[in-house]
Amino acid sequence: MKLLLAALTITGASGSDTFRDTLTTLGDKTTTKYVGAAVNEGWFSDASYSGTASDYYNLVTAENSCKFSAIQHTQGSFDFSSCDQVQKFAEDNSMAFRGHNTCWGVNNPSWLDNGNFTSPELVDILENHVTTVLKYYKGKAVAWDVVNEAISDAAPYDLKLNTWNNITADEVNTNYVDVAFRAARQADPDAKLFYNDYNVASSQGWSQGKSDAMYNMVKSMLDRGVPIDGVGLQMHVGTGYDLVDGVKANMERYGDLGLEVHITELDLVCSQKNGYDCVWSDDMEKQQGELYATLLQACLDTEACTNFETWGFTDAHSWLEDGTHPLPFDENYDQKKAVGSMLDTLAGY
Ligand code: G3I
Repeated sequence: MKLLLAALTITGASGSDTFRDTLTTLGDKTTTKYVGAAVNEGWFSDASYSGTASDYYNLVTAENSCKFSAIQHTQGSFDFSSCDQVQKFAEDNSMAFRGHNTCWGVNNPSWLDNGNFTSPELVDILENHVTTVLKYYKGKAVAWDVVNEAISDAAPYDLKLNTWNNITADEVNTNYVDVAFRAARQADPDAKLFYNDYNVASSQGWSQGKSDAMYNMVKSMLDRGVPIDGVGLQMHVGTGYDLVDGVKANMERYGDLGLEVHITELDLVCSQKNGYDCVWSDDMEKQQGELYATLLQACLDTEACTNFETWGFTDAHSWLEDGTHPLPFDENYDQKKAVGSMLDTLAGY
């Protein structure tokens, strides 16, 4: 009887009940080690939230609390308390912790964006922040997004104009991206250093231009000896996304450079806004589930792809508008069709 009960509890319809358990069962059959999600420590006290995250996933990223604005809200004063909550949640639940991020042009504290700092002063500020954060979390993070979203959205895909871009080439002989990565490697030689961006997942179709620009930037960093270990492909896309072949080709070309690839911020919005054409229904939920599964399969099939991660996990808490149903669990933490499809994909690998 005991044996029968045990068998029933560890074996679901898809062969295993959770992403993390199925990955454990797969072991070395795949180089994909993580199925992860961004989390927000503000919801940890809700047992449905923390329970679902820790039951299903084996990696978490802080949605906001490890960003520059959270850690160095006041110049020179480092506050790790919120970021620590996510790192400790990961540690307490035997999950990996992924750092996001040390350098971004968005959501920075006003002292930084309004400071009118000179280029040498900005170099000092950037190096100090990256160094302090990487040293503090030494040995505790599987990877860091050292620089986030630096590339412009249109040709010629130069670096975006932001505070950090006031670091001039004359000053450092390159640009702020290099400065951040060099500081990160020096601070923690063992940390895996990632560049993370959006609209860059597929090397075909509408994202080809920015995707190629990112590939060229990263290749140039490698050619110049700038330390980088991987790239994050965010993937804030929609239920009708149809460039999966291009995603695979793109991941493979990064693999050919010897880099790891993480799908970092996947969500599949269903919306009538911003060029999307989607009305939520049972069929749409099925289509969304199949797309989640197809993308997971592409990651599993690509040696370079080591992490498959969504930006949140429940429709109850997403940066996207309410009613757009972007994530694998619904507002009540019930599994949507995506969960079963992803479990089937993992079990069938
Ligand atoms: O913390 C303040 C709070 O004190 C204030 O009362 C409130 C009023 O608006 O704002 C709060 O800050 C908000 C913060 O989220 C924390 O909730 C910011 O306004 C808001 O802009 C911020 O949005 C986050 C955004 O990044 C900017 O940092 C989103 O939650 C987060 O999902 C989003 O995540 C980004 C990734 O980091 C990078 N890739 C794109 C992705 C989606 O935009």
